[in-house]
Amino acid sequence: MKSTRVMRLEPAAERGKLEAESRISVDPLLNNNIGAYARNQAPTIIWFTGLSGAGKTTTASLLERKLTSIGCGTYLLDGDVIRKGLCKDLGFSDQDRIENIRRVGEVAKLMIDAGLIVLASFISPFQRDRDLVRSMVAKGEFIECHVKASLEVCEQRDPKGLYKKARSGELKNFTGVDSLYEKPLNPELVIDTELFSPEELVDKMVDYLKANGVIQ
Ligand code: ADX
Repeated sequence: MKSTRVMRLEPAAERGKLEAESRISVDPLLNNNIGAYARNQAPTIIWFTGLSGAGKTTTASLLERKLTSIGCGTYLLDGDVIRKGLCKDLGFSDQDRIENIRRVGEVAKLMIDAGLIVLASFISPFQRDRDLVRSMVAKGEFIECHVKASLEVCEQRDPKGLYKKARSGELKNFTGVDSLYEKPLNPELVIDTELFSPEELVDKMVDYLKANGVIQ
């Protein structure tokens, strides 16, 4: 298992010694990451970023199902869902997208403290905002996963008919059409949905998570 935030994996007797190394103060009544202790998993944010139609939600949902089936505690945060509740006041201007990702980052961080593996599926078009979320958690607790498919293929798939609306001018600020998408500069994972099936990609991701001590 990872040892970046060892506190959560150690018995109570070790806490005093470990407190100095941890960024969280250890109050016995405020036992961060107890869930991880119980589940024997390393709390991690797996951040799926990519164009609309690239396959973020499909892959994240399948991975969530897989992780749950092997006893992991997970939560899937998805752009379309979050934008109906927590972020329903936000649109798609650059500023609103920045705020969307900031809020999601704060929520994901709390879920890390609850010991969960968080799957976050957001276009999250700006590198700076993805880096901001990365900086909110400990080293190793953020896995940036570029869900890769060309704009042409995403536009062909157009599962929600949104590219068509964007091209006709009915929808403004659409990512890839008249709003920017910055490809991840140095992602931990690149999953190519043009070349591989969702099942193949999830198998690769599970291998990666095992090799990096996120799951056993
Ligand atoms: S983000 O850019 O702020 O990260 P987010 O992932 O939350 O976006 O939401 C993207 C989803 O909102 C898309 O999957 C699509 O269904 C919907 N959507 C509606 N309008 C737009 C738009 N202008 N650009 C991108 N997605 C849009």
